[in-house]
Amino acid sequence: MTTDTTMTTDTTMTRADLPIGVFDSGLGGLTVVKAVRALLPGENILYLGDNARVPYGTRSPETIRRYATHCADFLHQRGLKMLVVACNTVSAVAIDALKERFPLPVLGVIEAGAKLAVQHTRNRIVGVIGTAGTVAANAYPRAIAQRDARVTVHQNPAPLLVPLAEEGWLEGTVPELAVDRYIRPLIDKDIDTLVLGCTHYPLLRSVIEQRLRTGHSAAHIVDSAGAMAAEVSRVLAEERWLRQGENGTLQCFVTDLPQSFGHMAERFLGQHISAVERVDI
Ligand code: DGL
Repeated sequence: MTTDTTMTTDTTMTRADLPIGVFDSGLGGLTVVKAVRALLPGENILYLGDNARVPYGTRSPETIRRYATHCADFLHQRGLKMLVVACNTVSAVAIDALKERFPLPVLGVIEAGAKLAVQHTRNRIVGVIGTAGTVAANAYPRAIAQRDARVTVHQNPAPLLVPLAEEGWLEGTVPELAVDRYIRPLIDKDIDTLVLGCTHYPLLRSVIEQRLRTGHSAAHIVDSAGAMAAEVSRVLAEERWLRQGENGTLQCFVTDLPQSFGHMAERFLGQHISAVERVDI
């Protein structure tokens, strides 16, 4: 009896110390890492950004699934307790394939965002902006309908917001015009909740909030990065795999190392990244 208890404790401790693997088509997924680190500072994280092949949002589902498998295999080989798909586009088209492939919890950002949207909406009219791939896959409407079939979802692809975020063009006339164009049709549908269905959009949150107000909308913003962090915490707590403390590490891998990497990474993560390794996957 005593021996059994000791074994269980040891196994739990070992598992808790394993890293969480997070990947994205590029550096945008660092917004998810930022949210996870803010909530769970003790966790060790391995991050892979496939920035040699970004963007995924304009590619076919077959190509996205192939790229996603490369990314996930790379991280899984390093030993993980959990795999987090930070990319909305991958979550939209490849999450089932990834869940089947790996014998560990695989969390997709869309499920987390959908859950939060259903919790927040009062009038049951939700708006979603995302990449063309995410919107075409209809993943948010399906995930929301699974939780509450009475909720109506209106979507709009917002492709220009990705390069604006990458450029750091986060305020002024250009992002305001782009955001207006993308959210106006959703405001007209009387949404009370707006899901930011892309890794890059949290960077434009203040302009999105401002344009909602200007459009006389009080819609609540669901940031999928924050929703994902809450889900990671919930699942780790349930499995008793939470790592305590404040000293979690972050190791970053990228498939390309552009000159602007440092600036871009800081913008998405909100802090300097000291160690980054370029890898072929
Ligand atoms: N990471 C993608 C997403 O969240 C945005 C960038 C891309 O198109 O690859 O959908």
